[in-house]
Amino acid sequence: MKYLICNFKNKMDVRDFQKYNEHLMELNPGENKLIMCFSTPYLLSVNHAKFVLGSQDISALIDEVVTGELTGHQLASCGVKYVLVGHSERRIWKKEINIDFINKITEAQNNGINVIYCIGESLKEKVDNKTEEVLEKQIKEVLNNVTLKNIIIAYEPVWAIGTGKTALKDDIANNVKFIKQIIKENYDLNFPVLYGGSINHDNIEDLIEIKELDGFLVGSASLDWQNVVKILDTMHKD
Ligand code: 13P
Repeated sequence: MKYLICNFKNKMDVRDFQKYNEHLMELNPGENKLIMCFSTPYLLSVNHAKFVLGSQDISALIDEVVTGELTGHQLASCGVKYVLVGHSERRIWKKEINIDFINKITEAQNNGINVIYCIGESLKEKVDNKTEEVLEKQIKEVLNNVTLKNIIIAYEPVWAIGTGKTALKDDIANNVKFIKQIIKENYDLNFPVLYGGSINHDNIEDLIEIKELDGFLVGSASLDWQNVVKILDTMHKD
């Protein structure tokens, strides 16, 4: 079993969503686990018979009354089972930091929602040979402060997101191995580790060969449901 997680970000308007929704019964994840993270307004209308519902965000403001926030309780009551936390776009644009991720993970766990914790180095950090240092810091500074259950790690190099530049197979394999080793050494646990960054229906054939990987986190390619069908087919053949 491998994971395929689709992150639609803020891309679909309601018409796009309605068209997409019509095709969701044609998806066949088979033995794999498909998780789809739609924008919040669509959560209650999604036909999610064939996959598991995810959210792109959750409130970090535990037990506070705050306009515009989305609590774990609200998400769980909409059927959400997974949530993305720590995505680099939120680190960059919303200036989210470790305490936000710790609170978001806690809020998710308090409401029975599984967490997909996203980590990854920037281009400068990669060029400066700091990837392992950055990954270790991102893991420890957050995971040392949460309950260690129901967590998936998504390795998403910042420079590979939305750029068409997928990381090299060997680099992904080495970094995923490193992430698993850090988690094993520090917590004696084995969390699933996924890769994300410019995955599409062509390069998935190569990526699937990386034995260390437990699955994939796909952004823009998943906006076309037929790409999701193709990616699932390739995963199925593996
Ligand atoms: P792209 O697949 O568009 O590069 O996005 C990856 C991503 O950010 C998934 O969370």
